[in-house]
Amino acid sequence: MEKIDIIIIGSGIAAMQLVQHLSQQFHVMVLTKSSKYNSNSYLAQGGVAAALSNNDDYRLHYEDTLEAGCHFHNNKEVLELVKSAPDLIQELKKSGVTFDLNNKGEILLGKEGAHCRNRIVHIRGDATGKYIMEYFLNNMPGNVEIKEHEFVYEIIIDHQSNRCIGVKTKNAENQIQQYFAPHVVVAVGGIGGLYPYSSNASSITGDGVALAYRAGAELTDMEFIQFHPTLLYVNGTTHGLISEAVRGEGAILVNEDKERIMLGKHPYLELAPRHVVAERIYAQLQKGKNVYLDISMIEHFMEKFPTISALCEKNGVSIAKGMIPVAPGCHFLMGGIVIDSVGKTTINGLYAIGEAACSGVHGANRLASNSLLEGLFFGRKLAYYLNETFHPFQEISFDQVKVNMEQQVLELPSKKEIQTRMMEYAGIIRTKEKLTAFLRWLEQFKINSISLDTGSITQIEIIFMLLTAKQIVKSALLRTESRGGHIRKDFPNEDETWKRQHIIQTKNKTFV
Ligand code: SIN
Repeated sequence: MEKIDIIIIGSGIAAMQLVQHLSQQFHVMVLTKSSKYNSNSYLAQGGVAAALSNNDDYRLHYEDTLEAGCHFHNNKEVLELVKSAPDLIQELKKSGVTFDLNNKGEILLGKEGAHCRNRIVHIRGDATGKYIMEYFLNNMPGNVEIKEHEFVYEIIIDHQSNRCIGVKTKNAENQIQQYFAPHVVVAVGGIGGLYPYSSNASSITGDGVALAYRAGAELTDMEFIQFHPTLLYVNGTTHGLISEAVRGEGAILVNEDKERIMLGKHPYLELAPRHVVAERIYAQLQKGKNVYLDISMIEHFMEKFPTISALCEKNGVSIAKGMIPVAPGCHFLMGGIVIDSVGKTTINGLYAIGEAACSGVHGANRLASNSLLEGLFFGRKLAYYLNETFHPFQEISFDQVKVNMEQQVLELPSKKEIQTRMMEYAGIIRTKEKLTAFLRWLEQFKINSISLDTGSITQIEIIFMLLTAKQIVKSALLRTESRGGHIRKDFPNEDETWKRQHIIQTKNKTFV
């Protein structure tokens, strides 16, 4: 059996920052279900938030983070995150990541929604994620082995010691492999693909949450889902992100009657927190009115936003005409697998970092450009922790790990059916009636104790989608208030009694 010290599931920024900082004495294996170039981090346009300018301060970044997320955070963790941000950026810069600079050679800082200062660090305008990821992928330490197209479908738990000891995977030929390691890290991103409209990479369908849940870990805050206000919207569907940085440069939102739709809705207008802008655009679309980003006032748009310009042109939208049609789409899960301040889950030997995890740094709605930051922050923190505390296996019996090849009859809906229902019943605006009806629909699929050994990858992804959808719907039903990324039409206001209450879900119970 191959000796592996640390298994990392996923290959986005949190995973890559972790491998960069882990001691080179470990044998690290990264397992990713598609290509290492196919991640949300790679697609990230906006950048990384850090209080770097002379007129900024981490305390202002802290306040903006709390305000955007409706004061529902782990404040201690937020403080550490924003304090570390400038150092994380300088560390990358020193390593050779080439952030955009001004003519004095200082890091150029953009503005995004709900930030009171310019503090968004970016690369080649709107290709920040791509260039950070390429830096990481081109500088992979020699102790790290990446296996692409290897889908992790089960986290293996040793029931005697009650700890995580490895994973089961399937490759494109549906062959099963088992890998064992004393430390397993879930870093697979969020849930974008549960919805038909999403900014996420197509492979992101809630695997991390489902894997951890099935292994017995706690989940929390699953009702808090961020819809990005502006995805490119052509022919009734979305085609990727139009970064908030475009609104940061002055773009305004208008409907087809040329009315500026954010006027009078929030003091920050187009740069209001995302749930406010997304809800407003959604309401217009529901009325049958198209919504556009008017970019006509932005000079040198194509130079500033080459990725977005290419995306628009590819989809038949002329930048020269100055109007980009937009709609909101699923962007980010604020909740996820419960972790402590270094990334430990509630299961020994199992860790989670990045979007799949919930440490409380995003509250009820994430501040723009705090997600790459979160990945950098927790990737490094967990590496330091594992470097200090690593211990090999002690008396584990691997014989007990069985594969169950007994054929089962699986009656499952299609991915498309789940996505359409998610948008309709558990989308931007929710109600008790819709959530209840959807939960009833989800419950007809008896997937809780199903063995996944015989399923195809697509079937397992669907099972994971159903399972994750169910946790979202159950939490959304329980939280009888509106806060951040959770909007209930039947409970339209924040409710003080919910202010400190987190909904926790495990395989056996849901509690507050
Ligand atoms: C954007 O560029 O608008 C997205 C950035 C983010 O979600 O942090």
